[in-house]
Amino acid sequence: MGRLIAQLLGFAGLIGLSTALSSALASPRLLLSHPTENPIAPNPEASLVGAASCSASGCHNANGASGTKGSEYSTWIGADPHAQAFAVLGTTRSKKMLANYKGLDLVQADPQRDPLCLSCHVHPDPEIKKKAYPDRFSVVDGVGCEACHGGAAQWVSTHYQASWKELSNPEKSKLGFVDTKDLGTRAETCVRCHVGEKGMDVNHDLLAAGHPRLRFELSAYQANYSGRHWRILDEKARQPDYEWTSWLVGQLATTEAALDLLSHRASHPDAPWPELSEYNCASCHHRIGGDFGQSPSAGKLRFGTWNDIRPNPQSLPLAFFGGILGDDERKGSESLKKLMEREPQNRDQIRPLAQMLSQKWTNRFEKTKSFAIPVPDFGQIREWILAQEKANQDGTCSPSWDKDTQSYLLLRASIQNVKNRDGKVSPALDKAVSDLGEELGQAFPKGKESIWTSPEKYQANSVRKRFKAIQEALP
Ligand code: HEC
Ligand code: HEC
Ligand code: HEC
Ligand code: HEC
Repeated sequence: MGRLIAQLLGFAGLIGLSTALSSALASPRLLLSHPTENPIAPNPEASLVGAASCSASGCHNANGASGTKGSEYSTWIGADPHAQAFAVLGTTRSKKMLANYKGLDLVQADPQRDPLCLSCHVHPDPEIKKKAYPDRFSVVDGVGCEACHGGAAQWVSTHYQASWKELSNPEKSKLGFVDTKDLGTRAETCVRCHVGEKGMDVNHDLLAAGHPRLRFELSAYQANYSGRHWRILDEKARQPDYEWTSWLVGQLATTEAALDLLSHRASHPDAPWPELSEYNCASCHHRIGGDFGQSPSAGKLRFGTWNDIRPNPQSLPLAFFGGILGDDERKGSESLKKLMEREPQNRDQIRPLAQMLSQKWTNRFEKTKSFAIPVPDFGQIREWILAQEKANQDGTCSPSWDKDTQSYLLLRASIQNVKNRDGKVSPALDKAVSDLGEELGQAFPKGKESIWTSPEKYQANSVRKRFKAIQEALP
């Protein structure tokens, strides 16, 4: 099972990047002087001062244990895959990918200079050249502190002073600071790169060229984040229903971003259309990665369900959002699914619908900040599993790895939440849930060194038994 899937399903030891790669990368960085000691020259256009500006030992580079307070820089550079995001663009794998994608010779392909790759592997700002202080900011840093915490030119020299604490959140945000403590704001930050947006698109052409498929789910990515430089215990103290809320806002942010991306994909006459990555991969591929010989299934194209509460009327997590969905959203979602599945796909009809729905979700998202959906209790979870299994049996819904994995992630987040609140859940329930996760992970062939793996060993019937076991283990 690849690292990318371990990330999602959260078992099987997480393997870091090779040490050779990390040290190859660390050295040019060590050569950088400590710009913290130099004053920042005034420049009204620039905001990015680079990760080295945070690296003074008295600030975020205490070099303590990974994840401890004051050691954010050392944790990031030593253990966070984001710090390697530029380095991976220098590998042959990345060069081949860009060459395939753009139809170039391998020698011509230079992902470390390609704006598309840099937008997600360094910083999403297309104006990065203007926005960065050239003597401080370096693309070599990969996804650095400012990609998540905001351009720091206007706050780096004050955010540790007492006066900073007196500023309101909007005042801080005006200076470029991103409030990553707010889960909604945080989720919106992650999905820019982990779902994509206009100009930052991992579309089917890029997937076919070898890019890993983007399958983001906030609660799992946070739980399994190797090299996380903050502590879950602090999160739980700030946010009593931390796991559930992470799942919830993660789904909302992902939905919003996915719809927005779809509307961009439908807007550009030069963009590939229909955009195949919007569909369930299994409607064409049985397995992916070197063996595309399998005949594409005769069945029809099915709209993808990874970003599940997106316009998928059969979506089960939608049950939890039911109460906050208006009629126009419900109907709009159904029409979108139909339009996407009806050939030829009419982009002029799809674009405004996706835009409208994305806007609606943006409004929802704003509202969740003051509108919390309560954590489901065991009774609701049982009903929800029963409804899912009934829909699978009567054919209203066909099971897939994507759907079952999303269901698993929802279960895991909500049961973990109960565990935090009540101290424990029964060992039988715990085991039933991890058995499901393990089975989903085992759908990926073992030991296959492939740039691309797909859940080709997924067995819908066997997974059904796992859901049944969970349902029976619920008190
Ligand atoms: C929409 C943002 C986006 C764009 C554009 C993008 N990437 Fe990525 N890339 C990601 C994310 C996010 C991951 C990590 C996926 C995960 O773990 O879920 C990733 C992973 C990778 C990996 C695997 C890294 C590993 O450690 O296994 C490679 C290689 C890669 N990208 C290369 C490229 C290249 C080359 C380009 C340009 C042709 C590119 N990417 C464009 C977001 C992007
Ligand atoms: C991938 C996004 C991301 C990157 C990159 C990142 N951070 Fe963070 N950081 C977060 C999130 C999310 C939190 C948790 C919420 C919070 O405390 O703001 C956090 C927390 C922090 C905290 C507060 C820790 C605490 O104990 O309360 C500090 C300080 C910090 N980061 C500094 C840095 C520095 C310095 C870098 C670069 C070396 C960096 N971060 C890179 C996302 C990121
Ligand atoms: C500027 C774009 C960007 C932003 C913002 C971003 N990421 Fe990433 N993330 C990436 C890329 C690119 C990779 C792949 C790095 C690699 O493997 O080389 C990645 C990798 C990861 C991984 C490791 C995946 C794996 O398979 O090991 C986790 C976990 C992760 N990101 C979580 C987050 C979270 C949580 C946030 C928001 C707080 C976030 N990221 C924000 C671009 C981004
Ligand atoms: C409508 C059918 C269709 C759908 C849906 C589809 N693909 Fe493809 N895919 C193709 C075809 C046809 C090719 C070969 C031509 C090409 O490279 O574009 C291909 C090629 C590929 C390749 C390279 C060849 C290989 O097997 O290694 C990858 C990787 C890939 N697709 C991944 C995906 C992923 C991931 C999804 C879902 C997000 C997906 N595809 C959805 C039709 C589809």
